[in-house]
Amino acid sequence: MFYNFDHRKYCYLDMFPKIKKRNWTNKKINKAPIWVSEDLRDGNQSIIEPMNVEQKKNLWTLLINIGIKEIMVGFPSACKADFDFVRWLIRNKQIPEDVTIAVLVQARKHLIKRTFESLIGINKAIIHFYNSTSPIQRDRVFKTNKEGIISIAAEGANYILEETKKYPEVSWILEYTPESFSSTEIDFSLNICEVVLEIWGQNIKTLNKVILNLPTTVDIAGPHVYADQIEFFCKNISKRDKVIISIHTHNDRGSAVSAAELAILAGAERVEGTLLGNGERTGNMDLITFAMNLYSQGVDPKIDLSCPEDLIKIVASCTKIPIHPRHPWIGELVYTAFSGSHQDAIRKSLKKQKTNEIWKVAYLPIDPQDLGRNYKSVVRLNSQSGKSGMAFLLERDYKIKLPRWMMIELAPLVQKESDKNMLELSSSDVYQILKNNFFLENPFNLFKYIFNITKTSFKIYINNINKIIYLKNKNIKDKNIILKFLTNWNLHSMKLRKIYIQKINNYYIAFINIIINEKQLSGIAIDIDKFSVFLKSILSAINKYYLLARSYFLSG
Ligand code: KIV
Ligand code: ZN
Repeated sequence: MFYNFDHRKYCYLDMFPKIKKRNWTNKKINKAPIWVSEDLRDGNQSIIEPMNVEQKKNLWTLLINIGIKEIMVGFPSACKADFDFVRWLIRNKQIPEDVTIAVLVQARKHLIKRTFESLIGINKAIIHFYNSTSPIQRDRVFKTNKEGIISIAAEGANYILEETKKYPEVSWILEYTPESFSSTEIDFSLNICEVVLEIWGQNIKTLNKVILNLPTTVDIAGPHVYADQIEFFCKNISKRDKVIISIHTHNDRGSAVSAAELAILAGAERVEGTLLGNGERTGNMDLITFAMNLYSQGVDPKIDLSCPEDLIKIVASCTKIPIHPRHPWIGELVYTAFSGSHQDAIRKSLKKQKTNEIWKVAYLPIDPQDLGRNYKSVVRLNSQSGKSGMAFLLERDYKIKLPRWMMIELAPLVQKESDKNMLELSSSDVYQILKNNFFLENPFNLFKYIFNITKTSFKIYINNINKIIYLKNKNIKDKNIILKFLTNWNLHSMKLRKIYIQKINNYYIAFINIIINEKQLSGIAIDIDKFSVFLKSILSAINKYYLLARSYFLSG
């Protein structure tokens, strides 16, 4: 059955730099890198239906609004929609002063020429060109050796240089990507980048630094390996101060964000990625996740993610790819705890959290309110939740603080209901279960009560028939009071085990636990009068007893 599943088909590619002493392991990210959105290019190229100009405009506006300052807008030489979009941006003066657009092109003369044409009228732009460098690409795709690959890059760099000279009024920023960098021998990557730098460095009349973008075009090793490659590259490239090291990671191994983070530790300064990680195969690096990782560690991410709902809506409508409910940081279920122990820990931590102190809440790495989410979605109940979850919901939505013994009685009833329907329960479901099982008003319903003179007994009117409840002691909170309840001609003794009366706004809620004929029973009542609530809760427990032992009462 698993005939084709054979690991011997693959091997560890042992071509990574051998670093004896690495520095990135001891570093910490303390400022945001330069964020570059690839949504309108890598993201757009990898969706079933590429975006139309209207969708591109929506995404563009979103990127500007959240504060991305470098935006790759497309492949104008290869695609008419991209060409038209670049023209629209320039003609309609859509590019804010502090935003720079980038365009991608292969290392081919006519494509480079066309790309520059798409940019006529612009003040500043990044021309990004690339060619593949890895052994697989050299041997199997381009069928050429290292020299052949270097001459492709050199020609591309020269063509670009020629074109920039035609538009001297523009502030050009030049970017080169040795595509498949992470699968390429590090010496060769350094070598080819030096050739490109040499061409641009000697001739270009610009103060702008050159960008060297080092991608995991396909991620084939762990993020630590990539970090070693970046550190080695940064340490060995000449004119390090004249170049910006950029990274561009893909998510084949599920570690695009980790690889990018470690690469920043290793010396990179600029990160190309997409919103929510859309991109070829398993996607590009998710800018949101990386930015939120920084934010959660007290680093200003320099992009505004306070309204993720708008972002999710726009990205999903442009890419036709819905966001996973557990997407890091902003998925719908991220701030929802289902497990009882998590709910308990969250409830306890939230109670202790003070307004101006550093956030310290178990299971919630950030305050959901920062993202416009609120605590209402923090706790939901299903059959996996425990006592604390339901107690949390009742307290949060009804202000009812269940005493522990009541929690213990209620929990199995909630559990049973949840198991029965296999559904999540809301706070109103829990309240209904509490009401149905403990707020019992039949058959004995308090009509009115009168204290006797000594205040050691109540004469109560139930369904208009007099009954008497005796208190041995005046204090209704005294657990030693003996209650006697006269039904017809029988006097039932009741022992009060537990009582808890809570005031909520201008009414009381009483929880009571009594023993009648050796049976423990709980009742709850709500009333604006403290004595009524007490008597009603007793009657509620008696009603329960009555329901359980109807025949006993009937015979009584
Ligand atoms: O993944 C990649 O290598 C790319 C380059 C063209 C930048 O998208
Ligand atoms: Zn890519």
